[in-house]
Amino acid sequence: MARLLDIVLRATLALAVGANARACQVNNGSKTYEAEDAVLTGTNVDTAQSGFTGTGYVTGFDEGTDKITFTINSDTTKLYDLVIRAGAIYGDKRTSVILNGGASSEVYFPSSTAFADIPAGQVLLNAGANKLDIVSNWGWYLIDSITVTPSAARAAHNINTALVNPSANSITKTLYTYLRSIYGKKILSGQQELSYANWIATQTGKTPAIVAVDLIDYSPSRVERGTVGTSVEEAITHHTRGGMVSVLWHWNAPTGLYDTEENKWWSGFYTRATDFDVSAALSSTTNANYTLLVRDIDAIAVQLKRLQAEGVPVLWRPLHEAEGGWFWWGAKGPEPAKKLYALLYDRLTNYHGLNNLIWVWNSVLPEWYPGDDAVDIVSADVYAQGNGPMSTQYNQLIELGKDKKMIAAAEVGAAPLPDLLEAYQAHWLWFAVWGDSFINNQDWNSLETLKKVYTSDYVLTLDEIQGWQS
Ligand SMILES: *[C@@H]1O[C@H](CO)[C@@H](O)[C@H](O)[C@H]1NC(C)=O
Ligand SMILES: *[C@@H]1O[C@H](CO)[C@@H](O)[C@H](O)[C@H]1NC(C)=O
Repeated sequence: MARLLDIVLRATLALAVGANARACQVNNGSKTYEAEDAVLTGTNVDTAQSGFTGTGYVTGFDEGTDKITFTINSDTTKLYDLVIRAGAIYGDKRTSVILNGGASSEVYFPSSTAFADIPAGQVLLNAGANKLDIVSNWGWYLIDSITVTPSAARAAHNINTALVNPSANSITKTLYTYLRSIYGKKILSGQQELSYANWIATQTGKTPAIVAVDLIDYSPSRVERGTVGTSVEEAITHHTRGGMVSVLWHWNAPTGLYDTEENKWWSGFYTRATDFDVSAALSSTTNANYTLLVRDIDAIAVQLKRLQAEGVPVLWRPLHEAEGGWFWWGAKGPEPAKKLYALLYDRLTNYHGLNNLIWVWNSVLPEWYPGDDAVDIVSADVYAQGNGPMSTQYNQLIELGKDKKMIAAAEVGAAPLPDLLEAYQAHWLWFAVWGDSFINNQDWNSLETLKKVYTSDYVLTLDEIQGWQS
């Protein structure tokens, strides 16, 4: 979970669509639509930045509701690859793409000095006219045009048969084999926190297959201040009833917590709440802060060993959202984050002998990737309203893992609708909805949607995965 407030604010998007955009027929080939010819709401045409196509580009995304509305005609209902030609001349940006007033996806524009063609995932166009909105989100970028091209059918996946840890224990290998057997055919339902998983059961009659828990309160700098973790017990409870377990760790910085009115000690996993410098700490194995990192890893190993002793294989997702930079482990860029991941992998696997971990990496960008030999599954955390298929991130992760690593939606705000997952061939292995403010929030997940998701044949629930251990 990150940047909750920003996300909620940015998600308050107007879905009204403009009328009378220039219509244009799409056939089997690519079709480009100039932004300056579309319907503009709160945005304007400019020509100051050179390199645009057509007669200009669109800018002025400074309010949350500012947007461009394209009208795209398709001969049949069909999936298309979307490319946005954009200029992120003020630094890294994110935009929201909303199709026909429904599912929204988030597209990342890397900082650039010129216009560039940025892959923006896929859109399932209906036969006839479709509306595609590009809405502010972070704003402050230039849009030159969009291009849609009918998607090729997804090639068969080529997933590694073995886990990266050659000593992985039997139950963990069995889980991995099971996951491979369903990948591309079904999605596992998942929920952050046991209590919300049980709440879903009362609402939909179905219990999530996966419960995700957080080792946050076992972080030594929290324990020192009186926290008592209970998430290991929650994980064991769900395992005992035949479920699967995913574990993340909001690692409270080992030291250097500001503990001020704005940044309390318990928010010490945020970059803004600590001056702990991960790069400096990792610069030598003898400095005091390196020792503290190892102390913390050893404390977490104690908890993971309790799970191992109970026969619980763990979808283990440490250093999540590193690329965002909002957590201290990502605050100094990719190199220290990867170094810390390598330390974690080595210490937990080779020193502590933890053989019940399936290693889940949780950033999309290639420069952050720790390497094929320490990652079993790649994943992303996606907070976009509309219960869409998140195909942008799925396709990025196919590239990242070369389609040899399965792909998970490890944290989402909105449970993806199964018919969209299938139409987009977005073969996420699982989704896990975040807890408070998301699973129980109508703006993110209406009860009707949750029922649709949880009763779908495509979505595996706790009752449907029974027996995976054998
Ligand atoms: C693709 O579109 C062109 C122009 O509309 C058409 O002539 C051609 O037959 C189409 N090809 C296929 C394989 O559909
Ligand atoms: C360890 O980190 C703390 C918090 O950032 C810092 O104040 C301290 O100087 C660091 N210690 C060393 C030996 O670098």
